[in-house]
Amino acid sequence: MKTKLPHPLIAPSLLSANFLELGKAVDMINESEADFIHCDVMDGMFVPNISFGLPVIEAISRVAEKPLDVHLMIEKPERYLEAFQKAGAQMLSVHYEASTHLHRTLDQIRKLGMQSGVVLNPHSPIELLTDIIGFCDFVLLMSVNPGFGGQTFIQSSIEKVKRLRNLIDERGLNVLIEVDGGVDRNTAPLLVQAGADILVAGNAIFKASSPKEEIKVLKNCVHGN
Ligand code: DX5
Ligand code: ZN
Repeated sequence: MKTKLPHPLIAPSLLSANFLELGKAVDMINESEADFIHCDVMDGMFVPNISFGLPVIEAISRVAEKPLDVHLMIEKPERYLEAFQKAGAQMLSVHYEASTHLHRTLDQIRKLGMQSGVVLNPHSPIELLTDIIGFCDFVLLMSVNPGFGGQTFIQSSIEKVKRLRNLIDERGLNVLIEVDGGVDRNTAPLLVQAGADILVAGNAIFKASSPKEEIKVLKNCVHGN
């Protein structure tokens, strides 16, 4: 039996777009049912890859009609909070594993007028959030090891979403759950049912024959056959 699920917010990841035609990718997202534009910033230190940085984000923000959700995969992210705000980020997330003074960093992100997010790598347990969850607007759970698009979804992430949902609900908090990595039309319904609010998808959207149609499919995912 098919069960209707709540509509998740969709954040297409530009990492999987054709970088020679980034403007067209942003136009496609603008015209689609997507809610955010997910931008992956990598420094070749925190993750074994280098993607794009401030000037590219700034260029994207000039044509973007949806809020920029900037995911920092960089060491010592506190060095660049204001720079990303000036470049146009409206949501800014930093990795738990990369931040020594996470409470201060989240506070600064909010003071700069952005939504603050904490990201957990697949190996980091939900319990790490116990004393910080009240100070962020969203938690981003990595369902692959960060650094590359197109990787296989780690199935145990579904249980992790459920545990995070319980933590948030038990405390009566208004913190959104975002999931990133290997999200597609098969994993999306499982994640939404587990309690995810925002789904990031790179390959599933940009390698589809119709990216706009794929966004619609993710947005309207149903559970069951
Ligand atoms: C990976 C990035 C992701 C990536 C997801 O480190 O954080 O946002 O673009 O790509 P897919 O959806 O292809 O797994
Ligand atoms: Zn990401």
